[in-house]
Amino acid sequence: MKEKILVTGGTGYIGSHTVVELQNSGYEVIIIDNLSNSSADVVDNIEKVSGIRPVFEKLDCLDYTGLDALFSKYKGIKAIIHFAASKAVGESVEKPLLYYRNNIVSLINLLELMSKHGVNGIVFSSSCTVYGEPDQLPVTEQAPIKPATSPYGNTKQINEEIIRDTITSGVPIDAILLRYFNPIGAHPSTLLGELPNGVPQNLIPYLTQTAIGIREKLSVFGEDYNTPDGSCIRDFINVVDLAKAHVIAIDRILNGKQKAKVETFNIGTGRGLSVLELISIFEKATGVKLNYQIVGRRVGDIEKVWANPDYANSELGWKAETSIEDTLLSAWKWQLKLRERGIQ
Ligand code: UD1
Repeated sequence: MKEKILVTGGTGYIGSHTVVELQNSGYEVIIIDNLSNSSADVVDNIEKVSGIRPVFEKLDCLDYTGLDALFSKYKGIKAIIHFAASKAVGESVEKPLLYYRNNIVSLINLLELMSKHGVNGIVFSSSCTVYGEPDQLPVTEQAPIKPATSPYGNTKQINEEIIRDTITSGVPIDAILLRYFNPIGAHPSTLLGELPNGVPQNLIPYLTQTAIGIREKLSVFGEDYNTPDGSCIRDFINVVDLAKAHVIAIDRILNGKQKAKVETFNIGTGRGLSVLELISIFEKATGVKLNYQIVGRRVGDIEKVWANPDYANSELGWKAETSIEDTLLSAWKWQLKLRERGIQ
């Protein structure tokens, strides 16, 4: 019998790629999403990629009664992957209460209802933002948690603590916290990818929208960082590779392979690339010249962060596999496909 997995935020960017990988591995997926930052068409595209239509229910994780009814309707859910969250750093500074409510109350609702309905596993979508500006690079899971620089980042830290405290209290839940570095790229089918609302805040969607002519110019934020070329350094992780880490985490929980009831893994490549290096690789991989301009720093940016993924590599048997060239090419092909579909 196929085991049922609930994926919150399953029509979103990382969620949709993860649903496909779960289905490819034989899981039955139930998606809930409030469609605040995605659309129901994504379900059609998931079906086109995997050949299986996941169950989809439009539901907000803030809706406790609705969630309660969902667990009763789809009995036997074995574990949850919790992606659903607000994720724009800048917006979180302007609307902190919206972020605290959306991101924290959603998790509390899920944890309470997991106990009620006998769901014992959760994989949580965390972020390298919890490390702030790390003292040592590459950053390991043992690096200290630094005070968050935005309400968004704070919700990730608080949610990690909520999960730990809940499990410490004796509730029979196993959890895996996946700290993602910078997820980029799109599905090789060009049927799934990142679809930002309005002007993108993240580097890659802004870059590909510039390359295709939707935006005039990419602003590179900062040239005076303490890095070889002066621009910030990040660990860019392919979204399909990242999605696969979730399937391994679910397998690990369901097969009782965990070494502790809460485990934490860095999900990155282990390679730091500067913003300027990334632009140059994009230009070479796609043959497209990018119009960009170096401007001042963006407030709140981390200078450099990249993962030590050794623990995920050895313990999960997971490794980032896709080259940065292929990843950037996939992001570009996705942007071209969006134009073909008349989107943006
Ligand atoms: C941020 C968050 C991260 C979150 C991610 C997704 C922090 C510290 N990081 O990552 O937790 O998961 O957003 O929302 O809170 N850049 C430009 N020009 C642009 C856009 C970006 O030069 O137009 C640069 C930035 O200065 C940065 C790099 O590109 O150095 C990556 O930026 P971005 O894609 O926004 O991700 P992060 O800020 O690393």
